Amino acid sequence: MALQVTNPTTTKAWSKLQSHFLELKDSHLKELFKTNPKRASELTVIWDDFYVDFSKNRITKGTLTLLINLAEELNLKDAISKYFEGDIINQTEGRAVLHTALRASKNAEVFVDGENVIPGVYAVKEKIKNFTDAVTNGNHKGFTGKQITDVVNIGIGGSDLGPAMVVDSLQFYKNQLNTHFVSNVDGDHYQEIVKKLNPETTLFVIVSKTFTTQETLSNANSIRDWFLQSQPKEAVANHFVAVSTNIESVKEFGIAEENIFPMKDWVGGRFSLWSAVGLSISLAVGNKNFESLLLGANKMDEHFKTSDFEENIPVISALLTIWYNNFFKAESEAIIPYTQYLNQFATYMQQGIMESNGKSIDRDGNRVNYQTGTLIWGEPGTNSQHAFFQLIHQGTKLIPTDFIGYVKSLHGNKNHHDKLMSNYFAQTEALMNGKTETEVLEELNVNNVSEEEKKMLLPFKVFDGNKPTTSILIQKLTPESLGKLIAMYEHKIFVQGVVWNIFSYDQFGVELGKKLAKTILNELNFYENPNSHDKSTQNLIRFYKR
Ligand code: F6P
Repeated sequence: MALQVTNPTTTKAWSKLQSHFLELKDSHLKELFKTNPKRASELTVIWDDFYVDFSKNRITKGTLTLLINLAEELNLKDAISKYFEGDIINQTEGRAVLHTALRASKNAEVFVDGENVIPGVYAVKEKIKNFTDAVTNGNHKGFTGKQITDVVNIGIGGSDLGPAMVVDSLQFYKNQLNTHFVSNVDGDHYQEIVKKLNPETTLFVIVSKTFTTQETLSNANSIRDWFLQSQPKEAVANHFVAVSTNIESVKEFGIAEENIFPMKDWVGGRFSLWSAVGLSISLAVGNKNFESLLLGANKMDEHFKTSDFEENIPVISALLTIWYNNFFKAESEAIIPYTQYLNQFATYMQQGIMESNGKSIDRDGNRVNYQTGTLIWGEPGTNSQHAFFQLIHQGTKLIPTDFIGYVKSLHGNKNHHDKLMSNYFAQTEALMNGKTETEVLEELNVNNVSEEEKKMLLPFKVFDGNKPTTSILIQKLTPESLGKLIAMYEHKIFVQGVVWNIFSYDQFGVELGKKLAKTILNELNFYENPNSHDKSTQNLIRFYKR
């Protein structure tokens, strides 16, 4: 069954939110804390090892109630059931959206076309486990009998960003294998990686859901050519495996069926790290850790499915985006992890959020008359404080920001961790409170600044504050807690899409450029005249070909 089709702006809840916004928009967070002493606890959700404090957002309990009314009016509960039960909610591609089935328990039942998909999921999991164990314990060796030391994941988009982000984030848990990622069709990317590798001890994992992606196939072909410069053809079987739905094309590439890890079309690329696409994660950190990642995601799935909306982290988080994006007209959201391990997290979420909700046609086929998908960006703290935080503090734009932090550091250096976390706490406080004229003057008085200079400096030193943040404080970065965190954002994406009345699971926007690139590639290769293009493109191509 399809998702309900309703323009959210026509709901009663939306009108109420509009009037409520006019009442609340100028209130300062400092005032909201003063008027409700229970605010911090009332707007915090504590679940498992997650402490999520929404209280530094420009909302009241009443705002949350109205946002939840909106979700109810749009039948979010029903949408959640359809999502988990395998209904064809990716209508434009005629598919279910079932990344949640990949981390469901063994006795779960999820039906697609009348067939329970869970036994198939577990068969692939078993294959991933066996292969991971064989490579890590040395049973699966290179063609010349040497142990595998390096793994290269060849893929792009969802077939790269998820595994790359998780492997980097969980490097503390890594085993003896070194994992590398080749994604860009830029030949310099793969060359820089293979130049450091010994073909006799390297395993290549080609990951492509469709096995038609230009970047991945070009890299796979060039890397295989590089491999065959020093190794015989028969060695390919020991050194190349693939993950795909397109078994025939993988076989044509020269990979035997037993070396193919299948995936299903109901797994979207940007949500696929839980499937066989996660093979390089399993190889890098061991299968047990890969399974813990999945378990964490499954726990978040249960939280999302069963918690009341008032206590539901992904639901509240998504509704806050709606609040800022559609009422405050904020254009972007930042994600700032206070751990260097999550260096690639914002980049990963960019695909998840922007490829999913960067849509302007509603589920009825009409152009939307409201804003949808937000811009997502971010870098780890504290580095980002010394890069772009100035704009968040004193710029003209409203940028709701998620602060992700951990109670414990992994190597246990308390001295550094306390410094890191004091910045985490201080930034959200500073963003909220800002600095008043009185405070600035007091500071200037202490520093014996002349009256004239005080007058001149005052406007520049005042911070308005009132900048919204959400603090996501987690006990420790483990495979399980990372699984929960990723799943939290996945469900946030889903809820946003339901409210905005758009299809979150297709990505037609990226197709046009790909098609044009093919035409231009022919023109570059065969000296054809690029006359079919606009004047600007023609001139650029001619300049390139000179
Ligand atoms: O960028 C478009 C896209 O289709 C993504 O959604 C996907 O993750 C990526 O290309 C790679 O696709 P494939 O896994 O089929 O090579």
